[in-house]
Amino acid sequence: MKHTDIRIIREGDFLGKEVTVCGWVRTARDSKNMAFIELNDGSTLKHMQIVVDKAVLTLPENASHLGASLRVEGKVVPNMQNNGVEINATAIEVLGDAPLDYPLQKKFQKLETLREMPHIRVRTNTFNAVFRVRSVMAAALHRFFQERGYMYINTPLLTGSDCEGAGEVFQVTTLGYNTEYESAEDYYANDFFGKRAGLSVSGQLEGEVAAMAFGKIYTFGPSFRAENSNTPRHVAEFWHIEPEVAFAELPDIIAIAEEMIKYVIGEVLEKCPAELDFFEQRFEKGLKEKLEGVVREDFAIVEYTDAVAQLQASGVKFEYPVEWGLDLQTEHERYITEQIYKKPVFVINYPKDIKAFYMKQNADGKTVAATDLLVPGVGEIIGCSEREADYDKLVSAMEARGMNLEDYRDYLDLRRYGSVPHSGFGLGFERILMYATGMSNIRDVILYPRTVGSIR
Ligand code: 4AD
Repeated sequence: MKHTDIRIIREGDFLGKEVTVCGWVRTARDSKNMAFIELNDGSTLKHMQIVVDKAVLTLPENASHLGASLRVEGKVVPNMQNNGVEINATAIEVLGDAPLDYPLQKKFQKLETLREMPHIRVRTNTFNAVFRVRSVMAAALHRFFQERGYMYINTPLLTGSDCEGAGEVFQVTTLGYNTEYESAEDYYANDFFGKRAGLSVSGQLEGEVAAMAFGKIYTFGPSFRAENSNTPRHVAEFWHIEPEVAFAELPDIIAIAEEMIKYVIGEVLEKCPAELDFFEQRFEKGLKEKLEGVVREDFAIVEYTDAVAQLQASGVKFEYPVEWGLDLQTEHERYITEQIYKKPVFVINYPKDIKAFYMKQNADGKTVAATDLLVPGVGEIIGCSEREADYDKLVSAMEARGMNLEDYRDYLDLRRYGSVPHSGFGLGFERILMYATGMSNIRDVILYPRTVGSIR
């Protein structure tokens, strides 16, 4: 259907020209002689005002129904009120009516209410802005890595191993469990893959395989976690960006992560000014200033041991205990980044017992060369580490966790044939989107959130 995007008309030189636009009715005012329809086609946050002079054109009755879809022909003329343009309609065709039960009758609806209708909420300004930032940021992430010579790798989603070892793998099966099987082994042996299989929680292990051949790689795909945590920061299916870099040690990968965050936030600042203004007004005061600070200032780096001491010295009564050797909870992470440093912070060198088996063991025998990047308002957005490149040390870490070495034969081979120091990280795409938009619930930055007890 030949037509022009509203964004193109707004940005181009169309005054006096005849155009055709298509879109959905956002608001309509209908009086005796004139009608004014705000049309949105999704190409920009801003609507196009369609002016109907009833002496010139008979307005189809349902053309002013909220949510109806229209095809409009007309002339682009100046709009005196907002220094922009509007269209004097010469023809209007209703492509699809929307009766009065169209759910977006009220101007503003609560985000919780909108979550009940994911197929409709995308037609609001909020989700137009969220998904434009999401799209711009995805392109920026690819560009960041591509410009620097990283190879884009697609790692398998069906897997026989649990990368994080946290037991949060969704099982994939074509068989219902049945008491006729003699044992769990017997059951899995009869299943599709002949062994227990699941959805990948991370592409890291296969990413390392690729990095040992191509040097610098990244993945950008979904990861799945059967975490039973109903929080504003967890979904069961999230998008994961995982670079893996050969010949990189912890300080090198930290520098890469910081450069990447600055790059993608910079792109959003440059390419989404209208969306950021919208978020600033509706969701987070000071958002733009915060993001400009991210691009401008160095991130902080603090040792886990020092962070624990700072939390203990803060005098704050936290819900969860703060003690060397315990993992940092969200409340601790947020205190560190929001109250102590007031900017993004890399916490480095965590106790080895609370981290994954693959992390490089530090010389102190107690910690691993791992870091989490914490940001105000969200908490952890990146999990990162240098990998254990020494075969024997890796095997002992796996044995200490009771892991089955046979399941990780390929991974261990990487340490037998030309092992090199290497590092990588995982960025949660929805987490950085929350940070960049000020949306406080992860369910509002992904099209169809999957959470405990909820899928549609
Ligand atoms: O810290 P995580 O578990 O690290 C890994 O998976 C490593 N294998 C990554 C690597 O080194 N290649 O997860 C990485 C990031 C987290 O920091 C968080 O941003 C995001 O993935 N994430 C989630 N995002 C949304 N919902 C969940 N349930 C998430 N779990 C992790």
